[in-house]
Amino acid sequence: MKKDNCILIGFMGSGKSSVGIRLSYRLRRVVEDTDKLIEMREGRTISEIFEENGEPYFRQLETNLLQELIERVNGEILSVGGGTPVREENRPLLQTLGTVVYLRIRPETVYERLKGDTSRPLLQGDNPRERIRTLMEDRRDAYESCADLIIDVDELDMEQILDQIQEKLGNRE
Ligand code: S3P
Repeated sequence: MKKDNCILIGFMGSGKSSVGIRLSYRLRRVVEDTDKLIEMREGRTISEIFEENGEPYFRQLETNLLQELIERVNGEILSVGGGTPVREENRPLLQTLGTVVYLRIRPETVYERLKGDTSRPLLQGDNPRERIRTLMEDRRDAYESCADLIIDVDELDMEQILDQIQEKLGNRE
């Protein structure tokens, strides 16, 4: 059975963390961010984790954390890393955690938002525009298959995004 959390998924730069914080104010629910939890526990940034231990190590930390959250969390808002739904075993875990909201965004918008960003190891190559496009294409099915609600965020402001989520959560109760 689903727990009563709201889980925000979506590509890097889609606004998961900021939507999570704003939604927590509006709904008066606690918010947790898996990337931040991992960084805090490891005592280093995501970039350092990728560099020092590699991506598979980070992915295992993500899966372990989802399992832990299922045990200890209810009634919260959770934002997760952009790659979390890609690992097949994570998708049922996300679904068990609660209502999964996918913030869908166009590659061009991601590029505009994140150009110059150095905190995402997966976008640090020579051609970030192309990298964003192919990575998003590869991930499309994974995101869509575990979403209970899809919001196309490109043309929406924060309040409109929150309204749509709130409406969906309200309908579940
Ligand atoms: C990743 C997204 C990042 C972070 C890591 C990997 C991904 O989180 O987990 O750099 O694979 O898309 P954000 O989506 O919060 O940037």
